[in-house]
Amino acid sequence: MGCQYFAPCSHGAESFTVMMPKLTFGRGCLSEIGARVAVDGHKRVAVFTDPYLRDSRYLSDVLASLKQSKIDLSVFSEVHIEPNEKSILNAEEFLKNGKFDAMVSVGGGSVIDTAKAATVYATYPADFTDYFGPPVGLGKPVPGPVLPHYACPTTSGTGSECTSVTVLRIDSLNTKFVIGSPHLLPKVALVDPSCTDTLPANTIASTGFDLICHALECYTAKAYTQWDKVENPNQRTLLQGANPWSDMSAQKAMEIAGQYLSRGVNDSSDNEARDQLMWGATLAGMAFGNSGTHLPHAMSYGITHLMRDIVTEGYPVESPFIPHGISVILSAPSIFQYLSEGAPDRHLEAASFLGADCKDAMPAESGEIVSKRLIEMMQQTHIPNGLSGVGFGAADVKALAASSIRQSRAIANAPRESNVTDMENIYLNSISYW
Ligand SMILES: [Fe+2]
Repeated sequence: MGCQYFAPCSHGAESFTVMMPKLTFGRGCLSEIGARVAVDGHKRVAVFTDPYLRDSRYLSDVLASLKQSKIDLSVFSEVHIEPNEKSILNAEEFLKNGKFDAMVSVGGGSVIDTAKAATVYATYPADFTDYFGPPVGLGKPVPGPVLPHYACPTTSGTGSECTSVTVLRIDSLNTKFVIGSPHLLPKVALVDPSCTDTLPANTIASTGFDLICHALECYTAKAYTQWDKVENPNQRTLLQGANPWSDMSAQKAMEIAGQYLSRGVNDSSDNEARDQLMWGATLAGMAFGNSGTHLPHAMSYGITHLMRDIVTEGYPVESPFIPHGISVILSAPSIFQYLSEGAPDRHLEAASFLGADCKDAMPAESGEIVSKRLIEMMQQTHIPNGLSGVGFGAADVKALAASSIRQSRAIANAPRESNVTDMENIYLNSISYW
């Protein structure tokens, strides 16, 4: 079945590229950071983190290790959750003034993505939207190398330590958008699952659904052979569609999430489950960094742009705020029900990886099955009941769809085409599930 999915087609790509940082995984591996930086000959590093990790054990472990290896450093702890133009400008100024030869990020996706973006603008100054793709930006390629990046994720969802993209909020256009470039791939990733020991249950749940959607979207993405062949290999986009590499890591990530998400959310002492979820997030990052996400991520942006009055407990940030993983999962059951027609076998396999009972199921039922399994997992982990659970109603679907339709590249990576009316219907079917 896998081979059939990647069957060649006329004008379609015949090759895919895999890019990965040098990855270390294991409890306590943050203490390796000093040796990792020193062996590469760096003398002075910028350390990015956020205000909530400023006094954490994770940051102090990283700083102690760097100092032990005689690395000079300066800390920037003003990372904004959901980085925007203003917060990136602050980080860029910090880099410009610091005479750094490398950078370390310690935190969730916002921290890692801030480091990636700050070094791009500090190295190659440009207007904020220049490096974003159309329709919101000029689509200028990042011109060349940036500071070597040592990424240390502290949540089990982002996967950004394994990807060549940064997701930023463009307040003036009321949207989030992506900058992608091979130059943004971290050089080293240190993934220490002990960072998740003290995370609250709703953070494990939110980041868990981020990892699930990364994996599920990669596995059901349009095959790389369906994208046009590129003449110049350097122009091969990293969001290149499903491929054998992304299949391999996405499958394992879904199996892990299906088995361990509920345990990791509902029992904070279950180290085995939380360690597994951290590994699952890493695998899902390895998948989506080399294939790309599609509709659930594209349609999450409409939700985070138009949210109002919503407060999420456990996140010390200004409201309105909906965690990224929640914004991604809320429409996902309806999205996969819609998309399954474009790749029914893949959806059935994915449902099985997530733990659904697919015995005797037919591919035509795959949308229903994967949707039901996601809803079951949402209920087990106390996720809001669809869009109504975060304050949206039927009157909002037109605005949500109008916002999300701008994510053209991600929408094109889905296994079935969708227009703005399709999106409105999907949002309508996401109002509540139970
Ligand atoms: Fe995500």
